[in-house]
Amino acid sequence: MLTHIQGVLNAPQLGAARKLLDAGSFADGSRSAGMAAKRVKHNEELSLDDARHAELNNLVMGCLVKHPVYRSAAMPLKVATPYYARYTQGMSYGEHVDDPVMGEGQLYRSDISVTIFLNDPADYDGGELIITTAFGDQSIKLPAGDAVLYPSSSLHRVSEVTRGERLVAVSWIQSMVRNAEQRTLLHELNQAREALLREQPDSDETRRVNHSYINLVRMWSEV
Ligand code: NI
Repeated sequence: MLTHIQGVLNAPQLGAARKLLDAGSFADGSRSAGMAAKRVKHNEELSLDDARHAELNNLVMGCLVKHPVYRSAAMPLKVATPYYARYTQGMSYGEHVDDPVMGEGQLYRSDISVTIFLNDPADYDGGELIITTAFGDQSIKLPAGDAVLYPSSSLHRVSEVTRGERLVAVSWIQSMVRNAEQRTLLHELNQAREALLREQPDSDETRRVNHSYINLVRMWSEV
């Protein structure tokens, strides 16, 4: 399932992120790709040794990890240090699946990929994130500050940018719930549970749904 998360960063936060990115030093993105992806990856990434990387992480990932939709949909156990990617005119990232296990020292499994859009879609043409799903290809180009979560096992690509510049943060999550269908069920159930807790906190139905959700999380999570 693809999950669209609105408003991960607000306008002042986006402004601060853009300022850091504009002053940053970027390097060829293919250096961080696996053997197969390297052949199709044509973008640039903020250098990991740029001091702005840590500042951006505090800002961007700080906003993401607090977002209630992210927490409910991803149920994160471990989150990777993100990359900040820049695609200028002529750049693209061909079809690939993300590496299954990442990290140095502290390893994690990539269950969920996340892309956070850091500039306005009107700033560039092309640059759609295209994800192959059971229901066909989905083309994703979101407003600045929004994010999309998708299974790391899905085939995906970024179409060529034909004008302007596309700026995104990308990261990966090991979820407490490995199975994507179970995560989807829990997210759906949690949305119903939260509405019930708001609207009829004392009802017997709310109590039963709440207990079922809690015990399903216990049954399906691995920590
Ligand atoms: Ni990818």
